Amino acid sequence: MTGQLEISQIETDLGINTKAAIIEQIQHPVLDEHGIHLHIKRDDLLHPVISGNKWRKLKYTLLYALNNGHQHLVSMGGAYSNHLHALAYIGHKLNIKTTGLIRGEQPEQESHTLSDLRKWGMTLEFVSRSEFRELRKNREHNDKLEKKYAGYWIPEGGATQYALRGISEILKEIDIEYDTLALACGTGTTLAGLVKTLPSTQRVLGFSSLKGGGFIEKDIKKLLKKKSITNWSINFDYHFGGFAKTNDDLLFFMEEFQSQNNIPLEPIYNGKMLFGLLDLIKEGRFKKGHQFIAIHTGGLQGYRK
Ligand SMILES: Cc1ncc(COP(=O)(O)O)c(C=O)c1O
Repeated sequence: MTGQLEISQIETDLGINTKAAIIEQIQHPVLDEHGIHLHIKRDDLLHPVISGNKWRKLKYTLLYALNNGHQHLVSMGGAYSNHLHALAYIGHKLNIKTTGLIRGEQPEQESHTLSDLRKWGMTLEFVSRSEFRELRKNREHNDKLEKKYAGYWIPEGGATQYALRGISEILKEIDIEYDTLALACGTGTTLAGLVKTLPSTQRVLGFSSLKGGGFIEKDIKKLLKKKSITNWSINFDYHFGGFAKTNDDLLFFMEEFQSQNNIPLEPIYNGKMLFGLLDLIKEGRFKKGHQFIAIHTGGLQGYRK
């Protein structure tokens, strides 16, 4: 490849449309009762496949990789990984080789996600759970892994320093006033990207999708590199039993919310976050007039039946 690529050109080639990621006002009786305002930033509408925080996290990692001559991207994730789904599609559209290291044994009946990865030409390698835990430790570049796979290593969930830059661009697209941003957390990278550039007069409230995700706070502090950033917190009370676990209350809430607001949700990240946020509002935790913007991080592909 000759010359340096521009991110705007890559976005055009992929069909990323930031103008589609509008901000919508939410209607809900709990909001009326407590005098709270809630908008949703529809990052799920950025692209039909590479939606939400997936593109935000990957864009500058991808730019760096391509501008440094890498034509093979290697990463890891579960059998329903939104991150691998986006990466495989990017590889397919830009004609770049991709490899996905998948947690656990190859299932007899593959998920929709895995079948899309194959359709888009990603090489799949199933790794044992213990091996996967070891791979997870490779948060930035790793010469050994890059040599082994002859490709550029992207850590699980795209959790790199480059991701923070892409995520922070969400803030530039918000042109209404707010006190607090709310979002779902897995690795916490998206939260770190927001909080890194947010003025200290505004806050970020994350909702962990994982049970026992105490490590997230430590990882966020590591990503932020600055102890002085304190305008964020994570709530651990709405994981519903653990990652990808649901119950009837959550599913009922999602159905009602979707029909009132015409916004699709999945129960792994965004459904839990909105359930948690409205529950805290119901408990009277925020003053009348408080203005929230929830970031819809996409991920709808993982919830196909
Ligand atoms: C749809 C969706 N929302 C939220 C998250 C959590 O993001 P992070 O790992 O940056 O906290 C993920 C995982 O990347 C995701 O796929």
